Amino acid sequence: MPARAATQAVAHPYIGAVKVLVVGSGAREHAIVRSLSLDPSVDEVVAAPGNAGIASTATCEPLAGGPTDVKAVVALARRIGTDLVVVGPEAPLVAGVADAVRAAGIPCFGPSAEAARLEGSKAFAKDVMSAAEVPTGLAHVCTTLEAVEDALDALGAPHVVKDDGLAAGKGVVVTDDRGEALEHARACLEKPDGAVVVEEYLSGPEVSLFCLCDGVTVVPLSPAQDFKRVGDDDVGPNTGGMGAYCPLDWAPEGLVDDVVGRVAQPVVDEMHRRGTPFVGVLYVGLALTPRGPRVIEFNARFGDPETQVVLARLATPLGGVLLAAATGRLDEAPRLRWSEDYAVAVVVAAENYPGTPRTGDRVSGADDVVGAPTAYVLHAGTARDEAGELVSAGGRVLSVVATGPTLADARRRAYAAVDGIGLPGSHHRSDIALRAERGEVVPSAVGAHGSDA
Ligand code: AMP
Ligand code: GLY
Repeated sequence: MPARAATQAVAHPYIGAVKVLVVGSGAREHAIVRSLSLDPSVDEVVAAPGNAGIASTATCEPLAGGPTDVKAVVALARRIGTDLVVVGPEAPLVAGVADAVRAAGIPCFGPSAEAARLEGSKAFAKDVMSAAEVPTGLAHVCTTLEAVEDALDALGAPHVVKDDGLAAGKGVVVTDDRGEALEHARACLEKPDGAVVVEEYLSGPEVSLFCLCDGVTVVPLSPAQDFKRVGDDDVGPNTGGMGAYCPLDWAPEGLVDDVVGRVAQPVVDEMHRRGTPFVGVLYVGLALTPRGPRVIEFNARFGDPETQVVLARLATPLGGVLLAAATGRLDEAPRLRWSEDYAVAVVVAAENYPGTPRTGDRVSGADDVVGAPTAYVLHAGTARDEAGELVSAGGRVLSVVATGPTLADARRRAYAAVDGIGLPGSHHRSDIALRAERGEVVPSAVGAHGSDA
């Protein structure tokens, strides 16, 4: 009966032939495209602009002005008649892509420009956290070097100085060296409308928890750990992320419920109260300090490379969940199911990353992955040269992902696959998930709930 079918379509927006447009071109977007293409309810996936690896799974469409070209994204979404737009990176969100897509009547998984300020401005995030009584580090927002000096003295070493605006994961300096902290602050303040946040140092293992949000309801994914520093043993500068793994066997029991209850839900409620509901991924970056979990940062999108491992374990078809979030129906979505496997991702980066990377080098071994199908390669900065050969085209070139029944298995498979990749001058960390495999990651003794007493 048609009437009944219509009712069902409304109650279960995730059943049916869905066409999805994914905006972005990194390994995170490749992971999203891969999961969407495995969802039986998803008919077609289009990526814009995508990359050389995404092109083997999805149609890739150019965007005249790149992913922040709001008009081009809307025009493409209309032209291909997409049912859902999923925005991967932060820059298009901050530029208002999600607002424009929704204004065109197309469901969009991604927050409005105003809601994306949770990532786009660290000062704004602190303001929302304060209003929502979310546990985080003490912080001073400074617009002059004198104010920075006072804040550094008030909070003491180690010093944490953050660029207020977007900086691709490279805007934070953590140092014992007051001179270095001041130098970073000076560089940030020299930018137009420059501001810095000087923050209390938070010690303890870090966790990334992605929460799917539809403006009201929060559905947490599986927590993951990211490796931000470029070198083994966490030495060298911060990067966008050099590897990740999940699940976190060492995480305190009740951590996810605690973080949803004390962080994600209050923030989503506060954003709703302000009239700027948060739709998309609220990425909660936490330090598990001796006093309990403290928010280090929010991002308004899936993390990269954590998404590569989180989606590797998500057994529930992704398209239905993202469409439910985009249409305000997360409360109706089925409970998420997870694989029992562990997942590890290792980023293969170009020479000189996180500085200006060398590009144009031949990439070999990415199609014939050692250990497939439990190991696979997701592309980030890749392209095809005139001869059709795969070449590097960015800083983080590939994410090599592997799953296995133990963390040790997943790790071993990931590194066996990395060893099969050729890229002149490339580098990767060799210790992704190593300390967890050895049982050396120890969260605070206080436990998930912590105490300020
Ligand atoms: P963010 O861009 O805010 O995620 O910071 C990047 C990295 O800097 C984090 O993953 C942490 O490793 C480090 N970091 C940021 N804030 C703090 C803090 N308050 N205390 C200690 N480390 C921090
Ligand atoms: N992996 C950290 C980020 O996506 O910001």
